[in-house]
Amino acid sequence: MTPRKIIIDTDPGQDDAVAILLALASPEIDLLGITAVAGNVPLPLTEKNARIVCELAGRPDVRVFAGCDRPLSRPLVTAEHVHGKTGLDGPQMADPTMPLQDQHAVDFIIQTLREEPSGTVTLVPVGPLTNIATAFQRAPDIIARVREIVLMGGAYFAVGNITPAAEFNIYVDPEAAKIVFAAGVPLVVMPLDVTHKALTTRARIDAFRAMGTRVGDMVAAWTDFFERFDMAKYGSEGAPLHDPCTVAYLIDPSLFSGRLINVEIETGSELTLGMTVADWWGVTDRPKNALFIGDIDAEGFYALLAERLARL
Ligand code: BDR
Ligand code: CA
Repeated sequence: MTPRKIIIDTDPGQDDAVAILLALASPEIDLLGITAVAGNVPLPLTEKNARIVCELAGRPDVRVFAGCDRPLSRPLVTAEHVHGKTGLDGPQMADPTMPLQDQHAVDFIIQTLREEPSGTVTLVPVGPLTNIATAFQRAPDIIARVREIVLMGGAYFAVGNITPAAEFNIYVDPEAAKIVFAAGVPLVVMPLDVTHKALTTRARIDAFRAMGTRVGDMVAAWTDFFERFDMAKYGSEGAPLHDPCTVAYLIDPSLFSGRLINVEIETGSELTLGMTVADWWGVTDRPKNALFIGDIDAEGFYALLAERLARL
């Protein structure tokens, strides 16, 4: 099996951190680089957090690039209320010593897609889509070279988390999302509908802790911190672990099911800005542009996570 080449575009974020760890723990994945974007917290923190996570995994060799520090045409909205002041609140972490790459993340994305054989690189965005949209705008020739985009963002049945109508990643940069969803690249979307079906329960967090490793302890502590917000908000027994669903899909797509549908991004309305208008029921004849995931084998997903993270 040839490992699948991916770039993770991210705004860590505790759940982003778990997505990165899952990729680094999995032989099916060849992580070409991590591109940081402003989102959950400002860019200087997201790029730093990405490096913290690589060092935690014992992989200071992974290349981390800093990208766009604000959305295409709006002020940045952040989510410290969910992720804490550092974006990776929970246990205290030492500052990373591995370097940040000099190259801008957007240039890295463009260069990689031009250099690697066409149709071999998958983009895995788990934050606002600013870096990806900027790369597509600046170098339209790369669009046809992307194998697939597997992203976390949007919602249909779950509607919204940052506003009543919109999911955070899409809401922060709806213009960027519009560009990405209209690009014509094969697109797999992990919306809140799915991630809310895979909550961290006490038993699932205990399984991380029971690994008896630093990674296991860290992931347990992060999820402990991260879940307080969703438990209070939804009255649920745990929190959705959004971003690793994308990497899990690449490793084992049989854990997920969805529909190939049309998804459009709302950019005009103040009230529903960033809404992913998903034609789940096929009531329009707009072109089908996304495999919109609707269901997940939550037990299988957490079993995969536990098995993989234990390798680190
Ligand atoms: C998304 O927003 C962020 O807060 C999470 O990291 C995830 O990518 C969920 O709406
Ligand atoms: Ca994220």
